[in-house]
Amino acid sequence: MRLILLGPPGAGKGTQAVYLSELLSIPAISTGDILRAEVKAGSELGLTAKRYMESGGLVPDDTIIDMMRSRLADQECAGGFLLDGFPRTVTQARALASLVTIDKVLALEIPKEVIISRLGARRSCPECKAVYHLEHQPPQEEGKCDGCSTDLIIRADDAPETIRSRLEAYEYQTSPLLEFYSSTGNLVRIDGDRSIAAIKADLAKLVG
Ligand code: AP5
Repeated sequence: MRLILLGPPGAGKGTQAVYLSELLSIPAISTGDILRAEVKAGSELGLTAKRYMESGGLVPDDTIIDMMRSRLADQECAGGFLLDGFPRTVTQARALASLVTIDKVLALEIPKEVIISRLGARRSCPECKAVYHLEHQPPQEEGKCDGCSTDLIIRADDAPETIRSRLEAYEYQTSPLLEFYSSTGNLVRIDGDRSIAAIKADLAKLVG
């Protein structure tokens, strides 16, 4: 299976990607996680990406397409994959289509006010990338990751003014992908404003 999880910031892509990856035994590839690791490592790619990510804008298409072309050529992706956060522009989607055929595009849809409240209460593990929510998905011990006990952080781009820029980037640059994939006939729209468990159950049926 070659799947794309599409949706605005905070739609729950990362949360559901972990689940689908386990269910289908395919790697979940998050461009956001790859870029954050590059920023942390201080690589050339990380230095380029950092200023775009900090402002809530998108990293240039050429940079992302090069990065993903090499990632998708990995042996690990030979049996399928789940993309979280890529493609994010029509240019990226066309580049992806020239590399592989996608089976399904799962689009999580949620209202803007829910996004803002979800991201305000998100806590992330900088080590193993696990995602928590203070109310809906709290860690067992306050402030610590369940899996690796690392101190949880608030992502730098979860500041309210950066969330606004990320939402604008989604609206103007990413949401046209709904039309793009609708025309290719493999778009499935999912109501993302429900419990994590209800969405999981729907996704399992869709990919089963
Ligand atoms: P990225 O890391 O991809 O961020 P994003 O798309 O903004 O998505 P998020 O990680 O914020 O949200 P999510 O949908 O994964 O939600 P989550 O599951 O965490 O990208 C970061 C930046 O990198 C971009 O801004 C850009 O600069 C750059 N970038 C990345 N890819 C790029 C590309 N292709 N091109 C150019 N630039 C790129 O859930 C959110 C919260 O809600 C959590 O607290 C979670 O516990 C909770 N939650 C989840 N589901 C539910 C539910 N059903 N009910 C209640 N709470 C829930």
